[in-house]
Amino acid sequence: MGLSVFWSFIIFIHVIHFLGGSLHSITVVAATFSNETDRFALLAFKDQIANDPLRALSSWNNSLHFCKWQGVTCRRRRQRVTALNLRRMELKGLLSLNIANLTFLWRINLQENKFHGPIPQDIGRLFHLRYLNLSQNNFQGQIPINITKCSNLRVIDLGHNDIVGEIPVELSTLPKLTIIDLQSNKLVGSIPPSFGNISSLTVLSLLDNSLGGSIPVDLSRIPNLEFLEVSGNRLSGIIPSQLYNLSSLLAFSVTDNSFSGRIPSDIGLTLPNLEALLVGGNRLTGPIPRSLGNALRLEELELTDNGFSGPLPTNLGRLQSLAWLNLVGNQLGTTEGDDLRFLASLTNCSDLTLLGLEYNNLKGVLPDSVGNLSIQLEMLTLSENQIFGSIPNGIGNLAGLTQLTMDHNRMTGSVPVSIGKLQSLQVLDLSINRFSGNIPFSVGNMSLLGELYLAENNLQGFIPPTLGNCRNLYVLNLSQNSLHGDIPKQVFSLVSLTLSLSLDGNFLTGRLPEDVGDLKNIEEIHVARNRMSGEIPQALGDCLKLEHLSLEGNFFNGTIPRSLNTLKVIQILDLSDNNLSGQIPKYLEEFRFLQYLNLSFNDLDGEVPQEGVFRNLSASSVLGNKKVCGGIPVLQLPSCPITASKKRRRSLVIKVVIAVFGTILCLLILSCLFGFCYWRKKPRKRLSSTSSLKNHHFKVSYAELLKATNAFSSSNLIGFGSYSSVYKGVLDPNEMIVAVKVLNLQQRGASKSFITECEALRNIRHRNLVKVLTSCSSIDFKGDHFKALVLEFMPNGSLEKWLHPQDDDGSSHLRKLSLIQRLNIAIDVASALEYLHHDCQTPVIHRDLKPSNVLLDADMIAHVGDFGLARLLCESDHYSQNQSSSAVIKGTIGYVAPGSD
Ligand SMILES: *[C@@H]1O[C@H](CO)[C@@H](O)[C@H](O)[C@H]1NC(C)=O
Ligand SMILES: *[C@@H]1O[C@H](CO)[C@@H](O)[C@H](O)[C@H]1NC(C)=O
Ligand SMILES: *[C@@H]1O[C@H](CO)[C@@H](O)[C@H](O)[C@H]1NC(C)=O
Ligand SMILES: *[C@@H]1O[C@H](CO)[C@@H](O)[C@H](O)[C@H]1NC(C)=O
Ligand SMILES: *[C@@H]1O[C@H](CO)[C@@H](O)[C@H](O)[C@H]1NC(C)=O
Ligand SMILES: *[C@@H]1O[C@H](CO)[C@@H](O)[C@H](O)[C@H]1NC(C)=O
Ligand SMILES: *[C@@H]1O[C@H](CO)[C@@H](O)[C@H](O)[C@H]1NC(C)=O
Ligand SMILES: *[C@@H]1O[C@H](CO)[C@@H](O)[C@H](O)[C@H]1NC(C)=O
Repeated sequence: MGLSVFWSFIIFIHVIHFLGGSLHSITVVAATFSNETDRFALLAFKDQIANDPLRALSSWNNSLHFCKWQGVTCRRRRQRVTALNLRRMELKGLLSLNIANLTFLWRINLQENKFHGPIPQDIGRLFHLRYLNLSQNNFQGQIPINITKCSNLRVIDLGHNDIVGEIPVELSTLPKLTIIDLQSNKLVGSIPPSFGNISSLTVLSLLDNSLGGSIPVDLSRIPNLEFLEVSGNRLSGIIPSQLYNLSSLLAFSVTDNSFSGRIPSDIGLTLPNLEALLVGGNRLTGPIPRSLGNALRLEELELTDNGFSGPLPTNLGRLQSLAWLNLVGNQLGTTEGDDLRFLASLTNCSDLTLLGLEYNNLKGVLPDSVGNLSIQLEMLTLSENQIFGSIPNGIGNLAGLTQLTMDHNRMTGSVPVSIGKLQSLQVLDLSINRFSGNIPFSVGNMSLLGELYLAENNLQGFIPPTLGNCRNLYVLNLSQNSLHGDIPKQVFSLVSLTLSLSLDGNFLTGRLPEDVGDLKNIEEIHVARNRMSGEIPQALGDCLKLEHLSLEGNFFNGTIPRSLNTLKVIQILDLSDNNLSGQIPKYLEEFRFLQYLNLSFNDLDGEVPQEGVFRNLSASSVLGNKKVCGGIPVLQLPSCPITASKKRRRSLVIKVVIAVFGTILCLLILSCLFGFCYWRKKPRKRLSSTSSLKNHHFKVSYAELLKATNAFSSSNLIGFGSYSSVYKGVLDPNEMIVAVKVLNLQQRGASKSFITECEALRNIRHRNLVKVLTSCSSIDFKGDHFKALVLEFMPNGSLEKWLHPQDDDGSSHLRKLSLIQRLNIAIDVASALEYLHHDCQTPVIHRDLKPSNVLLDADMIAHVGDFGLARLLCESDHYSQNQSSSAVIKGTIGYVAPGSD
């Protein structure tokens, strides 16, 4: 209301001007009102600011002229606001529509505040606006289309907001635009080809949006384009070759899209002014153009994670300003063995700070010239190549290095003493090579070192006590070397060790000292597979953040200390294969995060707890402790000497007997109907089938199964179905003969079948069921998922083979079943089903009972197997007695009976 009065008054004034009214008094009034408009507009702007923690607008009050308010600039003579500069003021709120009333405004800078809500369309009324910077706020909504009416706009910077929608094509009608910066928003759609018409454009930055399509070839018509940045979008296709003719380009950045094709070989000639060429994270192929050696201003060359191949240009040394050469993750290299020769040329690049060569196919020795690289060099990464030879002594010259990685190569020789001169080094990774000799004492001179990896080499001698000087070390990994002696005390004084201490797989001796408790914040301790002895230190209980403790494969003795009950966040605890004695601590049940507990092959005794991690067969193991008892039933350990209610047990036995005999009777009658009934029922002595088998569940790895079955050779194949193949195997160490059922995970439903079978077999145990010894769920050497069940081996194969002997089977003359045997088999199957339906904790329906799933052991006793289609019945859909027995008979007759010949 007030505003419209203002506007009509202004129009009135203008009319008077137009009419040539030059009365002095009137012009004074006009001026008053026009600068009043600005004052009101500014106050309205302030009104929308909800939070002004820096009190940036505290001077915006009536006692001060608005031209003196902070951030406000006026044209001196007419006292109209021309610029609003409130950069980095932490202002939070909406952008007032009234800003459009500041009609003389030509510059708005609200960068780095917390404005939210939409950018008002009204901004289109600011005819004089040349510079608009709203970047680094939380503006939402679309780019206001009316902004395209600000025909004087030079700079539009809306970067780092939450702006959505498409880029308005109409922006290309702004004839004076030099900078368009819309980076880090949520823009979709494509890059308008019409931008090629903005001939004044020098900067086009659209990086980190969700733009699709390709880069329009039209952009190559922009004569003075210097920065073309479209990284981090969803752009694809081939980069138009015409763009490489934009000789004005200083920065060309297309990283993290899906561009394919090659970089033209003459790029260094057609883009002579290039300072940054950033094309990483695409699908570009071909060689690195040698002509880049002519782009003499090049500072950043980033070609990571593409498919570039071939040799490295040896003329990059001409690029005196080169600071960043990142070639990580390509297929660079020849097979000739001198791929690193190009390093010699780089010694001229005195500003080089990053040289990334890891994950390539570079083959060759690290030349001595590496020591002549720039003193500015901070990162040198050579991991995962085929580098051989030793580390030149000159490496110690690179005093600026903060990160040096050479892991996964084939390097030999010793770690040079000069490495200690790298006083700025924070990460050193030399693991997985063939380094030998001692670890130099000078490692202790690298006082800023945070991560030291020397694992999987052939390092000998002692662990240098000087490591205690690396007061910033948080990861120390010396595992799988040939280190001797005690762990020096100094290592345990490194309170900085918060992530991991890995010394496993060496020849370390002595005790784990109580000082280990000083590593109060450590998460992982690995000293497995050494020759350490003595007791487990009580003080380990002080390492309250410990998540992973591996002490297996040593000679630790004594009991598992009580004090470990403080390790509440532990996830993996492996104490297996030591000489530990005493009881299994009950507190282990209560560790909520414990996923893996291995106590196997010790000398523990007493009761195995049943709760927590102990409930889960694949998560815990107590195998090879001869004196333990109890535990979950499936462990089949002797029960502990505790008296249970015998009465209840007896009544249970009676129930079972009655049920079994009831079914047998039914079966006999039905069998008669099918004409092979024999009256003579020979009482059989049932032996516990394969008494030589250990009843413990144990853990078995993919590698062990591979070995057991002779790499799943076809000669060991004893059966296959749609979901699985079954192999005979011999498991070390006790040469146990087993059947390994390998799931065919390519087959749909196989995984479900595996889970069903595990679920079904978890709690059932009967002499006429095939016994599951253990399972293995792992990743095979090709990286695929691998699931297998290890079952009791049945030497006499399946009933199917006895009923339908194969002609090609040489032993077919043996395969004749007497009617007595048939009857006994039928009874065995019936008792298995009886058990499944009535005596399991949860009733189980097999649903796939057929001769091939009935297996015969050495004594011709039948065992029902293959629970892949089984169904577990909940209490609610429990069958009544009658229905259930009929179900049994149906299944049995339908499949078993027709086998007669
Ligand atoms: C408006 O401008 C005139 C001079 O052009 C000045 O005298 C007057 O004080 C101004 N009024 C305000 C409120 O700033
Ligand atoms: C107005 O702002 C000025 C400058 O910050 C300050 O000195 C003055 O006290 C303020 N006046 C009122 C009434 O807040
Ligand atoms: C935006 O521009 C359209 C078309 O010129 C106009 O009708 C509308 O009033 C403008 N909106 C605002 C809020 O200025
Ligand atoms: C560029 O401008 C020309 C002439 O003004 C026009 O004909 C053409 O359609 C425009 N190109 C695009 C892609 O908008
Ligand atoms: C680049 O420019 C040169 C010389 O101006 C021209 O010969 C060539 O055809 C152009 N290449 C492309 C792809 O436009
Ligand atoms: C190093 O620079 C000098 C002159 O600056 C030049 O003569 C020499 O060829 C360059 N070396 C290499 C390997 O590029
Ligand atoms: C390294 O530089 C020194 C001094 O400039 C020179 O004497 C030496 O030959 C260079 N070494 C290599 C391997 O280039
Ligand atoms: C390591 O430091 C010690 C003294 O702190 C010094 O004597 C020794 O020369 C240094 N070694 C290296 C390789 O820098």
